[in-house]
Amino acid sequence: MAFRPKQITNYQAEHLAELQGDVSETAINYVLGLLPPFADGDVIHDNACGSGAVTETIMAQSPPKIQIYATDINAAFVEGVRALSEKNSWPVETAVMSAQEITFADATFTQSITSFAFHCLGDHDQAARQVYRTLKPGGLAVATVWIFMPHVEALQHAHWRTRGRDGPMPALLPLENFKESDLRQALQVGGFKDEDISCSEKVCYLKVPDMRRWAQLAWSYLGHLPTGWSQTDEDKWDEAIDDIVDQLSSGDGIVVENGETVMRMIAVVAVAKK
Ligand SMILES: C[S@@+](CC[C@H](N)C(=O)[O-])C[C@H]1O[C@@H](n2cnc3c(N)ncnc32)[C@H](O)[C@@H]1O
Repeated sequence: MAFRPKQITNYQAEHLAELQGDVSETAINYVLGLLPPFADGDVIHDNACGSGAVTETIMAQSPPKIQIYATDINAAFVEGVRALSEKNSWPVETAVMSAQEITFADATFTQSITSFAFHCLGDHDQAARQVYRTLKPGGLAVATVWIFMPHVEALQHAHWRTRGRDGPMPALLPLENFKESDLRQALQVGGFKDEDISCSEKVCYLKVPDMRRWAQLAWSYLGHLPTGWSQTDEDKWDEAIDDIVDQLSSGDGIVVENGETVMRMIAVVAVAKK
């Protein structure tokens, strides 16, 4: 079994939900405001569903008779969404599934929502092809990405400080920010016409009451290297967490008020019609 530092958080859906606070929901509510209301019989894909923020936000709107399919590559996250849906008796089916290898039939969905995943799921062109393929003609795809998140530089700093400058970066902490043009281009490669894609920005604020706890969750999830965790990561765990807390005490997009840190994050939202 791959080495894991003893301090690492054993990630479940609830940890991702805690890490994200309510920023996904804020952005998803904005997205849903851009779409026509759901109609009876709509079949919706919550692609790369994570802890289920899209599904949860849709269901909070008391939609008509819809069906949601929530999928993610991470089995622990899918299990969290399955349990949440069962508890609430939501019309949701879940499956562990790669966004690059979606197993649903062509033209299955009326809406396909890939929320905050295109910038971190690997081959985004192949993911876009799958979104296009599984959408009904006339259906709407939504893809959102973060183009600014203050914590990325803080975690990169902790990475370099504890691991040096020479090795690979964590896959979830890329040096190049994903941009609106990258999202547009991926959707076009997927099959959407440029004139059928519209993009807008949404500013969201992530409130963090306990930065040390948040840094622990962030490093456990985002610090993972393509080569895996190492003994050095275990030895320098506290140094990494201290560094993240220190880096996030001030900077562009960071405000600390009464002990609570508020981080400004900027999302690009693309809505594409097939
Ligand atoms: C930042 S989270 C966003 C989760 C959720 N959609 C939201 O908006 O809160 C990104 C998600 O993408 C998933 N993911 C990463 N690579 C993937 C892939 N190749 N196929 C499917 N899901 C993937 C991760 O497991 C994670 O749940």
